[in-house]
Amino acid sequence: MKILITGGAGFIGSNFVRYMATSYPDYQYLVLDKLTYAGNYSNIEELVEQGKVRFIKADIGNPAELEQLSSEGINQIVNFAAETHVDRSITDPGLFIRTNILGVNNLLDLARRLEIRFHQVSTDEVFGSLSLVNLDAKFLETTPYDPRSPYSASKAGADHLVNAYHHTYGLWTTISNCSNNYGPYCYPEKLIPYFVISMTKGLNVPVYGNGKNIRDWLYVEDHCRAIDQIIHHGRAGESYCVGGGEEKSTIEIADIIADQLGLDYEPKVFTKDRPGHDQRYAIDHTKISTELGYKPQYSFESGIRQTIDWYLTNPGWWEPLLSGLKKQDFIDSGKFLSSL
Ligand SMILES: NC(=O)c1ccc[n+]([C@@H]2O[C@H](COP(=O)([O-])OP(=O)(O)OC[C@H]3O[C@@H](n4cnc5c(N)ncnc54)[C@H](O)[C@@H]3O)[C@@H](O)[C@H]2O)c1
Repeated sequence: MKILITGGAGFIGSNFVRYMATSYPDYQYLVLDKLTYAGNYSNIEELVEQGKVRFIKADIGNPAELEQLSSEGINQIVNFAAETHVDRSITDPGLFIRTNILGVNNLLDLARRLEIRFHQVSTDEVFGSLSLVNLDAKFLETTPYDPRSPYSASKAGADHLVNAYHHTYGLWTTISNCSNNYGPYCYPEKLIPYFVISMTKGLNVPVYGNGKNIRDWLYVEDHCRAIDQIIHHGRAGESYCVGGGEEKSTIEIADIIADQLGLDYEPKVFTKDRPGHDQRYAIDHTKISTELGYKPQYSFESGIRQTIDWYLTNPGWWEPLLSGLKKQDFIDSGKFLSSL
């Protein structure tokens, strides 16, 4: 089995590469990544040096750069490559269309020509927003798509293309729609690493709006396990919702991290809300649990402890990335990481 992992130098992709190389050492792995600001070769460098993984620097948005893959003998593509930060999609939606829609079309075209399997890593954000009133409601595979941000609209467009290639050309495709991931190697602009790093430096953390927005947090290793189950045992043309079953508001996340770090000051500063900020995401993962035996192994308590410990012991990984953080100009008071 030879797997092409696109976007494999990013957060979830590099965790997946490591998980797979450990779980299936007999497989061959080819990682393709453009190494954007969010891609980091050092995330997989050790595996490349150990000969467990090969790396190609290329752009999925450029079909000519994908041509070199035609003679590689690949059996399966797992696509993580994407522009992923919602705030950046609000300022530069065009880049999200190019990579997240046109790039996926280029990969699907390649998979179609090579007659190989294609798995798309998608998001629960394609379903829009749940309200904060009926907390029993959850997203599941039959929930209609209703994306609200340029990021989620681009991911929704890609999902539709994936399904279209399955129905039109008979391509073997699968999709996973997962909730918010956290864990090691997550770029510091994302909420949990941003909060952990800020608080270890004695800084404030910005909380958008009233801070009551809820996300269903998924430890990245559980997500990797779910994708493993889907590519080995999933059904062609199907989507699978993957969640961690751990709903937490932004305020709760900030308080839990502050508590774990033993902070002696109040770090939260409430700021102007993100435009179009979705209120709540929650996943019903009954389908993947029933069909494929998926069960998250990490509680939020154990996952966040591991995550905090990883960031505390690996400042050499995240310190060089801090200069790439965008200044958050909606913030007018407080001492923040991105405005240092
Ligand atoms: N992080 C989450 O909580 C989350 C939740 C749901 C879904 N997802 C999806 O999972 C996937 C991975 O997310 P992540 O958090 O690891 O993202 P990330 O931003 O950390 O990594 C994305 C990777 O894709 C690469 N990339 C970007 N544009 C590329 C291009 N044109 N060609 C080749 N490579 C390119 C980047 O260099 C980077 O290595 C994405 O598709 C994202 O939409 C993420």
